[in-house]
Amino acid sequence: MTQELGCSTDGGLRGISQSFARRRARKLSAYREGLIEEQLPLLTLDLAQPFGGDRAFFERYRGDLRLEIGFGAGEHLLAQVVREPQTGFIGCEPYRNGVAALLAGLEKRGLEKRGLEKRGLENRGAEDSGKKAREGGEGVSSFFPNLRLFADDALLLLPALPEGCLSFLYLLFPDPWPRRRHGKRRLLRRQVLDMLARPLRTGGILRWSTDEPVLVATGLAACCAHPCFVWRARAPDDWRLPPRSWVATRYQRKAERAGRSIFYATFERR
Ligand SMILES: C[S@@+](CC[C@H](N)C(=O)[O-])C[C@H]1O[C@@H](n2cnc3c(N)ncnc32)[C@H](O)[C@@H]1O
Repeated sequence: MTQELGCSTDGGLRGISQSFARRRARKLSAYREGLIEEQLPLLTLDLAQPFGGDRAFFERYRGDLRLEIGFGAGEHLLAQVVREPQTGFIGCEPYRNGVAALLAGLEKRGLEKRGLEKRGLENRGAEDSGKKAREGGEGVSSFFPNLRLFADDALLLLPALPEGCLSFLYLLFPDPWPRRRHGKRRLLRRQVLDMLARPLRTGGILRWSTDEPVLVATGLAACCAHPCFVWRARAPDDWRLPPRSWVATRYQRKAERAGRSIFYATFERR
């Protein structure tokens, strides 16, 4: 199917420039370092193995498995993982501080879910409760079995995913790289769209958003010209207004505070 449509199935990073700006910023707190050390390995897909070393996960969520690329601090991913326990999620983000923020948020929500904080856990704060729960063998990975992570470049992950395994792909506010000389760093371009199309099943959705006019123009042109994607918009409100059950991200709120308008794109995989 992929080849019939003229998509390249040639994965990998050849000729593709890095699309993210940084892997880390300020030093993490000891609590967040602990989360990364203890929880991240339990959630991480191992690309050296078929199905990321976790065939059972891909089978369990075969009906609805979603990937968010570049989740930043994880607001959207966290809300979805908590809200939809029957749906599988893979989060991909090379920015360590963002991964730590997501894990901290999930641990807090997991503790709330289990009622551990309500029971007091000796009246400890959220961080102490989290540490205590982890010592007792509980943690993000047991609270949210519907989540896996890959804390690195999506361009490494995408070719390793089984063909057609995804129902939804989110690319929310990808780094804009508005200057012309940075065009090769943009994710919304032909070569990367080929890589996105392969693991997305027929009828699956590619959803992206941006506040950067250059990315609206170049992203739309690339997606509309791609044989595997068809734009679902029928009327201006379809790109002016957020889709139903949208969760605002940190980057989005910043853009809105600065008075920039947001463009919402929903493409269907042919
Ligand atoms: C502008 S930020 C937006 C973050 C978040 N989606 C939000 O809306 O707040 C773009 C994010 O995409 C991530 N990113 C860029 N290229 C990526 C890639 N190739 N694979 C995974 N994440 C990537 C960056 O690390 C950064 O966190």
